[in-house]
Amino acid sequence: MASYDVIIIGAGPGGYVSAIRCAQLGLKTAIVEGRETLGGTCLNVGCIPSKALLHATHMLHEAEHNFGAMGLKGKSPSVDWNQMKSYKDEVIGQNTGGVEFLMKKNKIDWLKGWASIPEAGKVKVGDDTHEAKNIVIASGSVPSALPGVEVDNDSGIVVDSTGALALPKVPKKMVVIGAGVIGLELGSVYARLGTEVTVVEYMDAVCPGMDKDVQRGFKRILEKQGLTFIMGAAVQGVETTKTKGKVKYQLKKGGDEETLDADVVLVATGRKPYAEGLGLDALGVKMTERGQIATDGHWATNVQGIYAIGDVIEGPMLAHKAEDEGMAVAEVIAGKHGHVNYGVIPGVVYTTPEVATVGQTEDALKAEGRKVKVGKFNFMGNARAKAVHQAEGGFVKLITDAETDRVLGAAIIGPGAGDLIHEICVAMEFGASAEDIALTCHAHPTYSEA
Ligand code: NAI
Repeated sequence: MASYDVIIIGAGPGGYVSAIRCAQLGLKTAIVEGRETLGGTCLNVGCIPSKALLHATHMLHEAEHNFGAMGLKGKSPSVDWNQMKSYKDEVIGQNTGGVEFLMKKNKIDWLKGWASIPEAGKVKVGDDTHEAKNIVIASGSVPSALPGVEVDNDSGIVVDSTGALALPKVPKKMVVIGAGVIGLELGSVYARLGTEVTVVEYMDAVCPGMDKDVQRGFKRILEKQGLTFIMGAAVQGVETTKTKGKVKYQLKKGGDEETLDADVVLVATGRKPYAEGLGLDALGVKMTERGQIATDGHWATNVQGIYAIGDVIEGPMLAHKAEDEGMAVAEVIAGKHGHVNYGVIPGVVYTTPEVATVGQTEDALKAEGRKVKVGKFNFMGNARAKAVHQAEGGFVKLITDAETDRVLGAAIIGPGAGDLIHEICVAMEFGASAEDIALTCHAHPTYSEA
């Protein structure tokens, strides 16, 4: 039995970042991970592999659609799907290997296996029980189930995001259930590979909760890229044969049940917190109504010495939110002050163009009765965006307090949006006004001028 100041359960972006910070603060730290590699969902079956496939297929799209116009003539590249998956796996390997190196470098023990907490102050991994003054649960999330739909990633017909990253072949027809971030990113990947992609969404807009202008513009852009949308449709179930899936749905406005045939059905209807097998019930750890671990302002649960961060607690399921919480909880455990500004957490969809948002939406502020000023600049007026064929339909929208001009939120759809948004994040952290941003000299020609 080993004894630690902190044992972190889960080596995703929340857990491994927290472990490093704990070690830097002089705490004897171990991390428990049952997967073969470190990095959690994000590095193994989430953000990183999907970004590799988005990059590769964007290159293909450019070659097929834009090269000719720029005088780059010749046959478009053909797709070697197995090679593309190998490239993706190589990217995963580099990143997970990097995390393993960081664990060693910071003298953090990797306890291999799945953890449970037999009692406060103890973590069991396999046959070994370790002592821990503090335990941080960073066990993440898993795809949530949809009634009437059975996901089977091995068969490759009805899959979740994990299965969709490793399909045996590029399907002819794909139905994506859910027009959220996963559905639109992976739907884009396959549409660019030539798959006929139909997205079935329950709500009347894509990316529920996002700025309305972005929702409308984004959907239009994706339609131009070949995705078909069926909105206001509740999926009732999926029937499968040996090789195909039949998606049954009902439009909210009424009518008969309708069906769609597909070679692959991607279920992307959200994720749920994952804390199975930890033994939280027996410990009496309080949960929220939505199945998240309930924490206070210092990421402490109701059980002394047990903390929780990331997807398994409240808030957006985003890697960078988990990372920030991971660092903050380490500070708290070390007796310092940990803080996360939940008002300034950006969200990015890595399609082309990218979509990025931060802060509050115009609608939410107006619903609160706040007087706001909205500034919008279209990328059609941005020379750089036009030069790279990414001006159409894109814009930067800034929402400020009508009286003080303080920036309250922003939404960007356009080239490099996922990087541009951080200028607004910094401005918001400093309580800047829109005028402060406008008076800052921006290099020409850049997207950031927008
Ligand atoms: P999501 O919550 O973003 O979207 C799910 C969509 O499915 C919603 O639009 C919902 O209305 C729809 N839906 C639910 N039930 C339905 C039904 N029966 N029929 C039709 N439509 C239905 O969930 P998603 O895309 O699965 O992502 C899960 C989590 O992972 C999110 O929290 C997301 O933030 C995170 N994520 C973030 C990424 C990023 O930051 N780029 C990338 C991938 C995932």
